[in-house]
Amino acid sequence: MNIQENISLKKYNTFGVNVNAKRFISVDSVYKLQQLLKDEKDLFLLSGGSNMLLTKNIEKLVVHLNIKGISIDKEDDNFVYLTVNAGENWHEFVLWSIEQGYGGIENLSLIPGNVGTCPIQNIGAYGVEVKDTITKVEAIEIETNKLVSFSNEDCAFGYRNSVFKNDAKGKYIITSVGFQLSKSKHKLNTSYGAIEKELSKRNIQNPSLKDISDAVIAIRQSKLPDPNEIGNSGSFFKNPIISIELFHELKSKYPTLPSYPVSDSEVKIPAGWLIEQSGFKGKRFGEYGVHEKQALVLVNYGNANGEEIYQLAQHIQNTVKENFKIGLEIEVNIIR
Ligand code: EPU
Repeated sequence: MNIQENISLKKYNTFGVNVNAKRFISVDSVYKLQQLLKDEKDLFLLSGGSNMLLTKNIEKLVVHLNIKGISIDKEDDNFVYLTVNAGENWHEFVLWSIEQGYGGIENLSLIPGNVGTCPIQNIGAYGVEVKDTITKVEAIEIETNKLVSFSNEDCAFGYRNSVFKNDAKGKYIITSVGFQLSKSKHKLNTSYGAIEKELSKRNIQNPSLKDISDAVIAIRQSKLPDPNEIGNSGSFFKNPIISIELFHELKSKYPTLPSYPVSDSEVKIPAGWLIEQSGFKGKRFGEYGVHEKQALVLVNYGNANGEEIYQLAQHIQNTVKENFKIGLEIEVNIIR
């Protein structure tokens, strides 16, 4: 086993925070991972590093999950069933699927991170969540070192949520994800306002999978910072779900308050709006700040440390709470 010492994790987390791993190993097969688990159980798992904020050096052994490969398990006229290993880059997998003519994940283009972590927070964008295409999640149970399989139902998916953030947290290492993608009669999802607008701007009436992907890429590039240029972890907070009573109270005070229906008694509010109205959008505090085009995204301009970004997040939470009586939940994993 090739364990390295004192490795900077700056290039392994999309926030670009410079902390060190005391010990670091990159693992490229399930077999090697199981060999490692025989000796080491107290691990810090690192995949695409796109949903974490590191605030200090990591004392545990950092295991970079780098298991690659895509296989076709079966297919019929309408669907293909794939197993995709955890270390595959998410966006490259999306582009590959589109090239093959496989549909279902085109709206999830350009999301940073790797395939192995997509089920944990049930990545979603532009009217689609990854849970709708996942058939199974394979993982090693750390305690027993055995490979186990979760069905879609076992994953208990919710909005930016799954069993891997709850009961199963810290107990498994995801090694691959199974997908069911369409080969024909694709169910295109173009009803999200921004996609509709982008397609009509491009004069596209009957979009292909690639047209939708291109539109999503253009929308994301216009709003969200590229982690290769400005460190970030996408949406830092979840969009809060509030009671209809509080919604009516706020709406009469703030008529422009946007909302999405959730149920008869609840609505979802864009956190970006609450943060913008609280005066944070585009605010820069030295090396870190709030993105100028999307207030839900906190950014590292280069040399910020994670702790100060976390303090800004808390300041935003307190201010939004005071202004709107809404508690914002942090979506990114804070490593303290
Ligand atoms: N808004 C503002 N100011 C802002 C940002 C947003 O007022 O600075 C308001 C606007 O009214 C806008 C509405 O929020 O119409 C919605 O904004 P947007 O379409 O950008 O989506 P979002 O709700 O802010 C969510 C996801 C994103 C995903 C987009 C598109 C969460 C936490 N975030 O953001 O996911 O790309 O929808 O579907 O649900 C991510 O998770 O990292 C992520 C980027």
